Amino acid sequence: MSTILVVDDELSMREFLSILLEKEGHQVFTAANGQRGLEMAANHELDLVITDIRMGGMSGLDLLKELKDSFPDLPVLIITAFASPEDAVTAMKNGAFDYITKPFKVDEIITIITTALGATGSAVIPTQLQSPSQDIIGQSPEMLKIFDLINRIAPTQANVLIYGESGTGKELVAQAIHNNSKAASHQFVPITCNAIPETLFESELFGHVKGSFTGATANTIGLFGQANNGTAFLDEVGELTPLTQTKLLRVLQEREFKRVGDTQITKINVRIISATNRDLEAEVMEGRFREDLFYRLAVVPIRMPALRERKGDVPLLVDFFLKKYAAIFDKEVMELSSYAMEVLMDYDYPGNIRELENIIERGVALSTSNIILPESLTLSSHRKKAGASQPALPEKLVGLHSEEELFEEGLEKIVSRFEKKLLICALEKTHYSKMRAADLLKISFRSFRYKLQKHNL
Ligand SMILES: Nc1ncnc2c1ncn2[C@@H]1O[C@H](COP(=O)(O)OP(=O)(O)OP(=O)(O)O)[C@@H](O)[C@H]1O
Ligand SMILES: [Mg+2]
Repeated sequence: MSTILVVDDELSMREFLSILLEKEGHQVFTAANGQRGLEMAANHELDLVITDIRMGGMSGLDLLKELKDSFPDLPVLIITAFASPEDAVTAMKNGAFDYITKPFKVDEIITIITTALGATGSAVIPTQLQSPSQDIIGQSPEMLKIFDLINRIAPTQANVLIYGESGTGKELVAQAIHNNSKAASHQFVPITCNAIPETLFESELFGHVKGSFTGATANTIGLFGQANNGTAFLDEVGELTPLTQTKLLRVLQEREFKRVGDTQITKINVRIISATNRDLEAEVMEGRFREDLFYRLAVVPIRMPALRERKGDVPLLVDFFLKKYAAIFDKEVMELSSYAMEVLMDYDYPGNIRELENIIERGVALSTSNIILPESLTLSSHRKKAGASQPALPEKLVGLHSEEELFEEGLEKIVSRFEKKLLICALEKTHYSKMRAADLLKISFRSFRYKLQKHNL
């Protein structure tokens, strides 16, 4: 356990860092300004100071200089805004241990802190690699990182921006963060930003008073009202118009709003999780998305990997969806033929997990036996990779293409022919090493030798 001081004039950042670091097992002090930070450094045995740069009164840079004078060995980590890289340079010149740019990734700050504390000999930080929800499937390193992140940030109040391609599980992750947070007993309210016309934005989000405009036939509390003390999930947040961006920002800054037609102010306490499949940082650069709003929303950014970046999870997901749809369609649990699985492993999933789920759902619905063959998989062929449309390896091996041919020849003959071809294939693959070929086919060397003789090979 280490003792860490967090200096930031923004309450949400102090809260976020202290919850995060306390979860990691550290003792955390906070100070809202540099002067106070300096006092705390004088009164406590600290292992690390994390300070924002731009603060009212004494700046982070001044604090850094003072600290370096009085406690030359105390590592100081500087938080800088992404918009002002020159601050980082100055800080490093003045002896900062490192700097981190807002918005920062949780694993990034944890790594830096571990390194900084490593210098003073502190404990290793534990990681939690359990899926936070039983319906989020994955074991790839990419997904384990996401699980770890969700487990770390869920209990904090930090606003989260989840970005990634369509169908990668953004909403699922948002829901998991809410379910694992202190607000879990309150509502998770999804708000699809592009589905609300600009003119109705305020009344939909903040509610209205009966009679305040034509059609306002009753009092409403609005979606933010429903989400009070819970989580508002702003889906497709990249689609907000300049006007609605401004309206949202004001509410986030002031933590209060007025319902349409109301004179009273309503206070709110809502955690915002937003999602987008746009590159919001690029939208900020190009002036289409307000930078100040971006920083409010993206205190913790989470990037969902595309399925094609974590193909290793495909068999696990297939299994999960096979069970799910067998139950839904009230069928026996099915499995995929090995060629069908090969086809799925070869595909690149522009629609990500949603697409894989649809493929399996149709496969289960269409299949007449309990083995799903490639022909029951409806991949949009123009999206299929070139290799995937070639005949199946077993098809090549058996040399049969139609059911008629198959039944004419009969099971025993086909199996025997198939076996012979497999033996040859295994020998070719292992450059004629009988031992390795036997391994490849997962049979003993003795039975491999026996089969070679049987086929006169
Ligand atoms: N890791 C996962 N394990 C199991 N199911 C998943 C996983 N990720 C996504 N899904 C499923 O895939 C579908 C799409 O997920 P979700 O709606 O969360 O995606 P999204 O990123 O919000 O997509 P969009 O950008 O199109 O809104 C859902 O049915 C969800 O349950
Ligand atoms: Mg979604």
